[in-house]
Amino acid sequence: MNALVVYDTVYGNTEQVARAVADVLGTGANTRLVRVSEAAGLDLAGIDLLVLGSPTHGWRPTPAMREFLDRLPEGSLRNLPAAVFDTRLRGIRVLTGSAARSLAKTVERMGVRLVLPPESFVVVRSEGPLAEGELTRAMEWARALVERVAAQAKP
Ligand SMILES: Cc1cc2nc3c(=O)[nH]c(=O)nc-3n(C[C@H](O)[C@H](O)[C@H](O)COP(=O)(O)O)c2cc1C
Repeated sequence: MNALVVYDTVYGNTEQVARAVADVLGTGANTRLVRVSEAAGLDLAGIDLLVLGSPTHGWRPTPAMREFLDRLPEGSLRNLPAAVFDTRLRGIRVLTGSAARSLAKTVERMGVRLVLPPESFVVVRSEGPLAEGELTRAMEWARALVERVAAQAKP
């Protein structure tokens, strides 16, 4: 399996989650971890699983993540298994918003098959750190992702 994890980050918390996810995926797959600022023009051919992660900024993904998706060639995500996560402040989602929910809607419109529901990982303050246990939860989420992809790949 070829997995690609594309993330954005300002303070490093989403990067930590993305690395934890990529580490777990990497045990069973050829996994690339790419910061969105380096992802322009990336060839998605041969990717079996795409994971996108963004901090929540004003209820939405960062401008760089939105621009990355906007600039992908038409149809390049069609039928691609994918999963999305965000980091956001602790609190109920109707107050904090969730970049992952927004990302999920965008990529589903582009034709991806979401393997798991959008997931949020919580920071204690805007600049971090991640709340206790969130990196462990991120690894569990990634393991669930691997299992789900494997189950769906079975004939
Ligand atoms: C400009 C800006 C807007 C933000 N807006 C929100 C928001 O709408 N909801 C929220 O929960 N957190 C918001 N935050 C907090 C971020 O979610 C938090 O900084 C982020 O999860 C940290 O991830 P990072 O370390 O990868 O940048 C905002 C932070 C910044 C800098």
